[in-house]
Amino acid sequence: MNDAPNSMRSNWTLPEGLVYLNHGSFGPSPKVVQQARTRWFEELESQPMQFLVRRTESELDTTCEELGQFIGCDADDVLLVDNASFAMNIAANSVDLKAGAEVLTTNHEYGSVLRLWRKVCKDAGAKLVVQRLADPLTTPEEFVDRFFEGATDRTRVIVISHVTSPTAAVFPVEEICRRARQQKIMTVIDGPHAVAMLPLNMRRIDCDFYAASCHKWLSAPFGSGFLYVKRRWQQTLRPNLISWGGSLSGRASHWKDEFRWIGTRDPSAMIAVRDAIRFLTDYGIKRFRDETTELASYVRQQVEARTACKVIVPPEWSRSMVSFRLPDDGVEAPKHGYLDPVQGRLQDYQIEAPVTNWNGQRLLRVSCYLYNDRADVDHLCDALAEILGNG
Ligand SMILES: Cc1ncc(COP(=O)(O)O)c(C=O)c1O
Repeated sequence: MNDAPNSMRSNWTLPEGLVYLNHGSFGPSPKVVQQARTRWFEELESQPMQFLVRRTESELDTTCEELGQFIGCDADDVLLVDNASFAMNIAANSVDLKAGAEVLTTNHEYGSVLRLWRKVCKDAGAKLVVQRLADPLTTPEEFVDRFFEGATDRTRVIVISHVTSPTAAVFPVEEICRRARQQKIMTVIDGPHAVAMLPLNMRRIDCDFYAASCHKWLSAPFGSGFLYVKRRWQQTLRPNLISWGGSLSGRASHWKDEFRWIGTRDPSAMIAVRDAIRFLTDYGIKRFRDETTELASYVRQQVEARTACKVIVPPEWSRSMVSFRLPDDGVEAPKHGYLDPVQGRLQDYQIEAPVTNWNGQRLLRVSCYLYNDRADVDHLCDALAEILGNG
C-alpha cells in the first residue's frame, strides 16, 4: 500500500468524507456481499415456506462447507450463529463446572465475555482467575509460562482471545491449547478478530470451542458468526434458546438441530458468509493481510511520532489493528465503550475510531481495512495532534 488514493473504497457504501477506522468492532460489508444478502432476503420474502422449510438448511450447509475450508475444519463441526456473543454463550452454558473449579483467563479479554464467565462461575460456585500478563508483552514463550502460572489442579477451562479487543494483540493460542491438552484443561477461544485477519486452522489449534463473528474482519453481513465445536462435546451442547430441536425439512437428526431452528428469523446474513469469503479470496487473502498489516504499521509509527499516544503491544504482537494509550489528561475512563470524550471529538473530524476503558486506562484502537489508506491515517494524526497536543 502506498500514498495513492485507495480505489478499493468504491466497493463499499461508506459516506464520502468519513474516515472509518473501526472495522474491528463493526465491519461493513462490500457492496457485492450486501447484494448477495439482499438476494437471499428477497427469496425469503417472496416464498417463506419454500425458503425456510425446504431451502435454508441446505443453504446453511453449503456455507458451512465453504467456511469449514476457510477455517480448517469439517463442515459438520462448525455451527453458524448470529455473532461471537451467541457462540460464547453456548460454550459457557455447555461446560459443566463444579463448585471449587477454576476458569483461567487474562486481563486482556472482552468485557462481555468476562461478564458471562463471571456469571457462569458464580452460578456454579467456581472461580474466575484473571491472570495479569506482562506489560509490555515480551516473547510467546514467556507469555505462555506466565499465563499458566495462573493454572492450578482445579483449573477446568481456559477462556482466551485469539486477537484481543482492547489491546489488539495476537495471542499464541495454538501453544496455549497444546499445554492445556497436556494438563487436561478445556479451551474456549474467543476469536472474532482473527477470522480473515489471520490464517485459521481449527485442526491445528485443536481447541474445544472457538467462538467468532464473521461481521468483523471477514466483512460478512451483520448478524453472522460461528461456533466451532470439537466432536466430543457436540452431543452434550446446551442451546441458548429452546425450540423444536429437529430438522424442519425432516432430515436425519444431527447435533446442530438444537441450534439451526431457534424460532422464525432471517438467515440471510449467515448464508451470505460464503459470499464474503469469496470476496476476500478473489481479492487475495494474503494480499489483504499484507496490505492491512502494512497500513497498521504506518498507523503505529505515525501516531507515536506525531502525538502523545503510546502503543500498547510490540509490533510482532499485532497485525491489522493497533491500540494506543491516550496521554493522561485527568479524564476518568467512562465505564462502557464508545462514550469517551476523545472518541466524541474525533467525530467532529469525521473519524470513527473507538476509545475503550481497559482496566481503567483509556485506549484508542485503529483498524485498517481495504478501504483505508495513508491519507486516513494522516487525517487521524492531524486530528489527534489538535485534540491531545503534539507528542
Ligand atoms: C474479543 C471479542 N470477543 C467478543 C466480541 C463480541 O462480538 P459480537 O458483538 O459480534 O458478538 C467482540 C466484539 O467486539 C470482541 O472484540
